[in-house]
Amino acid sequence: MKAIIEQLTQAFGPSGYETEVTALIREMIKDQADEIRTDVLGNLIAVKNGSPDGKKIMFAAHTDEIGIVITYIDDKGFLRFSNVGGVGIATLVGSRVRFANGTIGVIYQEGKTQWKELTLDKLYIDIGATSREEALQKVRVGEFGIFHRDFADLGGRLVSKAMDDRIGCAVLVEALKRISNPKNTLYFVFTTQEEVGLRGARTAAFGIEPDLGVALDVTLTGDTPEAFPMAVELGKGAAIKVKDSSLIAHPRVKDLMVELCETKGIPYQMEVLARGGTDAGAIHVSKEGVPSGTISIPSRYVHSPSEMVDLGDVQACVDLVLAIAQADLEGVI
Ligand code: CO
Ligand code: ZN
Repeated sequence: MKAIIEQLTQAFGPSGYETEVTALIREMIKDQADEIRTDVLGNLIAVKNGSPDGKKIMFAAHTDEIGIVITYIDDKGFLRFSNVGGVGIATLVGSRVRFANGTIGVIYQEGKTQWKELTLDKLYIDIGATSREEALQKVRVGEFGIFHRDFADLGGRLVSKAMDDRIGCAVLVEALKRISNPKNTLYFVFTTQEEVGLRGARTAAFGIEPDLGVALDVTLTGDTPEAFPMAVELGKGAAIKVKDSSLIAHPRVKDLMVELCETKGIPYQMEVLARGGTDAGAIHVSKEGVPSGTISIPSRYVHSPSEMVDLGDVQACVDLVLAIAQADLEGVI
């Protein structure tokens, strides 16, 4: 599974430009799904048929990653940029961006800027050009870039850019490989534009009309030095969401997840996220409402270019997806 995670995290996919990622996933799952389609917003939807008495479950993991967009190119060939999604300013100075054509740039701050007054408009990108004309050979205003950083295998733990949310995609790819004859009909949706407002999940849920919605996404942890107090720890299992800014998990869906973990011996922890959201925020208010919940993969350093996950947690999340796929949902939702 490490190879799948490395391939997915290293792919290029800022919000709105996820086709490299969805093409990669389509190739990975093409022999496992009964049907694969793409919708207008670019969501990749893979269907696995269940038994006639089963329910319709939509699992969602987002394919997009945070990034930047070029807003201006000056006479000397330096680029100015705006954020795509929630970019942490403290992670930017000295980091690198990559554009779709492979162009690499270094982000740095204007010379006189003090750390505490650092804002996006005090930063620029240097792609090694000596003039605007030379810069225009490689990039254009309006081009999207991602934060460029290698994947690293630390043993039980993995680090990369875009673990948010390619790790969720990897969980769904792995689950799909291991499912045969599910009880419920499963829609594995690899969504687009989550980082800019849960946009892909909204149209996908509207089209699918699921009986149950489950998002897979990263969540924060409270286990690092002087961390904001939070009960989630890396390596302590799948995190079952209770609440975040976008969703109060449906009590019966949350309870079902807890019960499945208890009966199947899957390590789990409860998650209350003070700020942030996932695709379930869009799914649960689709049409007349969809009972929804979220399985979170604990991650350190979310929205930095070095997001860290634990392989044991990833495994637990795969096991929980498989358990939900086979669960008898009659009377639950
Ligand atoms: Co995110
Ligand atoms: Zn995410």
